[in-house]
Amino acid sequence: MTFKLYLAPLRGFTDYIFRNTFTRYFNGFDAAVTPFISTMETSRAKPSHLKDVLPENNSSMSIVPQIIGNNPDNFVPLARQLFDLGYTSINWNLGCPFPMVAKKQRGSGLLPFPEKIDHFLEKTLSAIPNRLTIKTRLGRRDSEEIIQLMPVFNRYPLQEIIIHPRTAKQMYDGEPDLDAFERCIEMTHHRVVYNGDITDLATFRRFSARFRATDRWMIGRAAVANPFLPAIIKDGKDDFINKVEPFRQFYEELFGHYQQVFSGPGHLLERMKGFWTYFSQSFKDGPKIRKKVHRTLKLQRYLEIVERFFEEDAQWNG
Ligand SMILES: Cc1cc2nc3c(=O)[nH]c(=O)nc-3n(C[C@H](O)[C@H](O)[C@H](O)COP(=O)(O)O)c2cc1C
Repeated sequence: MTFKLYLAPLRGFTDYIFRNTFTRYFNGFDAAVTPFISTMETSRAKPSHLKDVLPENNSSMSIVPQIIGNNPDNFVPLARQLFDLGYTSINWNLGCPFPMVAKKQRGSGLLPFPEKIDHFLEKTLSAIPNRLTIKTRLGRRDSEEIIQLMPVFNRYPLQEIIIHPRTAKQMYDGEPDLDAFERCIEMTHHRVVYNGDITDLATFRRFSARFRATDRWMIGRAAVANPFLPAIIKDGKDDFINKVEPFRQFYEELFGHYQQVFSGPGHLLERMKGFWTYFSQSFKDGPKIRKKVHRTLKLQRYLEIVERFFEEDAQWNG
């Protein structure tokens, strides 16, 4: 069966720099949902707020901009502005699990309130020119929340619903709840995209054997850790012989781009430490390089550590 693969939004990782650099070295993704843009109370967002989705920064990969917010009066102008930039589809974040976000009834914080979601969709969908997709979890605290929501979603012409089958309370603990995902598929009238813990080809095969009608899949963390993965999944086989060298080139280009956009070495180092949390998972003795990088306080020292790692120690895991 032909299927589509989406790059998941990972704030602090899958921005336009990552997406463009990824596309120069790897393939396999058909599109990406961007990390969220917050709604604002002003009627027009400044270009700096929209930098990640400006068309000139996004010629390499097709994107669906994601918005987080709960007030149609602020959401609609931003959606229209994105439409004017060429985005005929936008995504609404209903899954962000962070307590600071959720307690303001944004992201997953709206999931216990089906009537508020209903009101939001009614006001918003009649006022925006874009098609709307939704990215959600099973609930804030309980997977029953999505069961209550499915009939609400069914009343609206959504383009698709992306489901990460965990509750917000779980964050990333435990296994994705595949039974709950199956109930969602049974209840929905919409196209559903599966997202969560697709870490390798075998896992993808297991999920796709269970959900045979599902033809869209989203991958986040494992694609940052192992950017060869989307192509391996698309091809159904791993034909890459040497992974370390192309990965190193990709990494060096990524680093070079971030070096240009970050104002100080501190920010650059923090960003790179974040990436090594994931990159290290693809290498033998990964925890060792992760710890070394994370302990570093100076950019110069960081550069020496990474250079030495690639020259002497780096061995791909698998
Ligand atoms: C660091 C980080 C940042 C994330 N940022 C976003 C975001 O901006 N919007 C969103 O919808 N999901 C966000 N997510 C959730 C991911 O898109 C995805 O749903 C989740 O990681 C599960 O998929 P995976 O197992 O393939 O990574 C984030 C996750 C992580 C770990």
